[in-house]
Amino acid sequence: MIPLHKPFLEEDDKKVLLETIDSGVIYSGGSVENSFLRELKDYFGVEYAIAVPSGTAALELAVASLNLKQDDEVIVPSFTFPSDATAILNQGATVKFAEIDPVYFNIDPESIKKQLSPKTKAIIAVHYAGMSCQMDQIMQIAKKAGIKIIEDASHGWGSRYKGKLLGTIGDIGCFSLHATKNITSGEGGIFITNSKKIFRKAEIYRQVGTNRYDFLQKKIRKYQWVSRGSSYYLSGLQSAIARNQLKKINKITQDRKNIAQLYLEFLGGIKEVVLPQLPSECDPNWHIFAILVSSRKRDQLIEFMKSKDIETAFHYTPLHSSKMGRKLGYKKSDFKITNTVADSILRLPIYPGLKESDIKFIASKFKKFFKNLTK
Ligand SMILES: Cc1ncc(COP(=O)(O)O)c(C=O)c1O
Repeated sequence: MIPLHKPFLEEDDKKVLLETIDSGVIYSGGSVENSFLRELKDYFGVEYAIAVPSGTAALELAVASLNLKQDDEVIVPSFTFPSDATAILNQGATVKFAEIDPVYFNIDPESIKKQLSPKTKAIIAVHYAGMSCQMDQIMQIAKKAGIKIIEDASHGWGSRYKGKLLGTIGDIGCFSLHATKNITSGEGGIFITNSKKIFRKAEIYRQVGTNRYDFLQKKIRKYQWVSRGSSYYLSGLQSAIARNQLKKINKITQDRKNIAQLYLEFLGGIKEVVLPQLPSECDPNWHIFAILVSSRKRDQLIEFMKSKDIETAFHYTPLHSSKMGRKLGYKKSDFKITNTVADSILRLPIYPGLKESDIKFIASKFKKFFKNLTK
């Protein structure tokens, strides 16, 4: 079976894991995590980084650090993983869904403008598939409205927009280290910011609502419970692997770029397939290679590929039309483009190590499927 994803793990990842076990520094906050955070800050060129147990936890910290009140609203695309909306709801704020654009499947700045209200406090810009949102326009909207931008760069490790790494453009960047992501520690997440105020709030929240961070910095003699919070830590074992993976990010990104190029070449010319486009201001990491096909044929195509030992997948069930979205008062017809994309998107296998012959094989099966249809 050619799988959809495969984590890029090598002998040296095993080695650092075993070394960490031997050293005993398997916990959060030890020397392994401190080195990882230092290297992350250097890599991103940011002031503050926090390692957390998931991308979802990073998003929760991001929303929690904004001091939202019950009626405050946060705008988020409906075409995303539930983590973005859940993070908003968990802080007692209101989710305002927005539409995506039909080409890159990212939040549409015009739709953001329509959802803005005096209660809006933030926008979550999800960089779908590692392709940047239109950040100049989104930054302008946020600046004018006086609201914050959280970048959900869970897919965006190593991607750039106008030369800037995703996650470093808005107020807060959130990343996932889940096994399906470009670099991984199995599970995990990263929160980055240049704001001391946001960082301090996030540190209190993730350390069970205590000022333990100040205590560890030797600024206070005892720490105590000061606020609401939760327990969001990445173990030393996970930090060790993630740190080693970060060292290989350029190679991993380049491998994915090469694979995407081959897909574009071999799938080009199949008239039933809409290939991804590449805007000049974006340098994506090709976390996902997604095409559009007829919604009437998509599920049949997934089954056909499966019968040829090729894993392909659809996603997301739009949040606005999910059970929870409907509970929030949305109805399926609310976001037409989101619905159309969700019904016709197809994700193809992409991971370092996927060979040119595999891609040729996959492309040949696409051709066969569409040829059979026209018979
Ligand atoms: C866009 C997006 N945001 C957030 C997440 C959550 O990341 P995690 O699984 O690490 O909690 C995911 C997970 O796949 C995602 O795709």
